Amino acid sequence: MTKNQTLTRLRFLLTFLFSTVPTSLVRIPSAIIRAWLKNLPLGPSIWNGFAGALMATAPPRQLQAILPSTIETYKAWAASQRDCAGVEEIVVEAAGGDDDGDDLIRLLWIGPRRRGGKVLLFFHGGGYVMPLSRGHLDWMDYVRKEAVAAGVELSVCVLEYDLIPENPYPRQVNQAILGFEHLLASGYAPSEIVIGGDSAGGHLSLSLLAHLHRPRPSSPSRGRSESIRPSDRIRGCFLVSPLSSLNCSTPSYNNWFSADVLGKKVVSTWGAHLVDNSPWHAEISAGKGWGMALDVPESWWDGVDVVDRILVTGGDEEVFSDHVQELGAMLKRRSKGEVALYMARREAHDGPLMDFAAGREASETTRVVTGFVVSCLKS
Ligand SMILES: *[C@@H]1O[C@H](CO)[C@@H](O)[C@H](O)[C@H]1NC(C)=O
Repeated sequence: MTKNQTLTRLRFLLTFLFSTVPTSLVRIPSAIIRAWLKNLPLGPSIWNGFAGALMATAPPRQLQAILPSTIETYKAWAASQRDCAGVEEIVVEAAGGDDDGDDLIRLLWIGPRRRGGKVLLFFHGGGYVMPLSRGHLDWMDYVRKEAVAAGVELSVCVLEYDLIPENPYPRQVNQAILGFEHLLASGYAPSEIVIGGDSAGGHLSLSLLAHLHRPRPSSPSRGRSESIRPSDRIRGCFLVSPLSSLNCSTPSYNNWFSADVLGKKVVSTWGAHLVDNSPWHAEISAGKGWGMALDVPESWWDGVDVVDRILVTGGDEEVFSDHVQELGAMLKRRSKGEVALYMARREAHDGPLMDFAAGREASETTRVVTGFVVSCLKS
């Protein structure tokens, strides 16, 4: 460990003792009371109280100093798996444009890479601050195994993307575009691909859809995306509790005694890390929706025809609840494909991830998402 990392970890220790612990002492009891009054499951409420306190108090760089990186988590997980195709490195030619990122992106495979198979391109959540977690990998492994059991030769490929505040928008969008185009170049047809993600990963999925809908000029490989024809629609896209707006004044943000892991402070602080000092503000003011689906006039999405089926899910008890429902309704109005919205009762943010992180049984939302992926690829 470098001296810098040691210092950051020491700082985290101080943050934890003098800020996270006191905040938890308020948030956990509030979450318990609310769970009791509203008859919500207790375990997730307590966990959300603690994780929420941690996210609200520890700065992103401190969280990153204590959490294993995406590639470390993947390698440790994959070591115990039998048929993982491992890490695929993609060398990227100098892209130019607005992103002077590294010339290497990595796809982390769950299951084999197989000609003629189907693929799920997954974007993990974590507010663009937290790396991939074991819970994500267990969740995706579950989806894959259910699909295989249903007769779909599915492999999952997880994009390793760069994190904020070091790498603001549009770095992650550009990496997602490159990952997607790499799958096309490797011989997967759009009709064999489902994309999706949770939370920030849902946001990233929306950015990729937006780019396929109206190519973002300074993003890489514009030519190829422009040549995607209607007959080349991606098979499906699922969005689990996606970030779709930075407007934190909807009623669901002001839920009394919130049982959610997220709150105004985390969304606005991390949101600022994502978009400040980036082309984001200018794009949104100009009504271009690559960086935030609901913060531009709805007409931007008019006739969006890049995916056959979209599934939007969220929990009634989460701060994104209003936006998730608005997003579902907006996509139903504007999309040429089929759009479904599933709101889970008594559930907070990112239910499926929370289930797998805590080793609980798959909840209703997890089953809905799995069923969606299988039915997209089965026909
Ligand atoms: C934010 O959301 C609130 C509640 O839906 C709405 O009244 C307000 O106009 C929105 N603000 C902006 C800037 O869109």
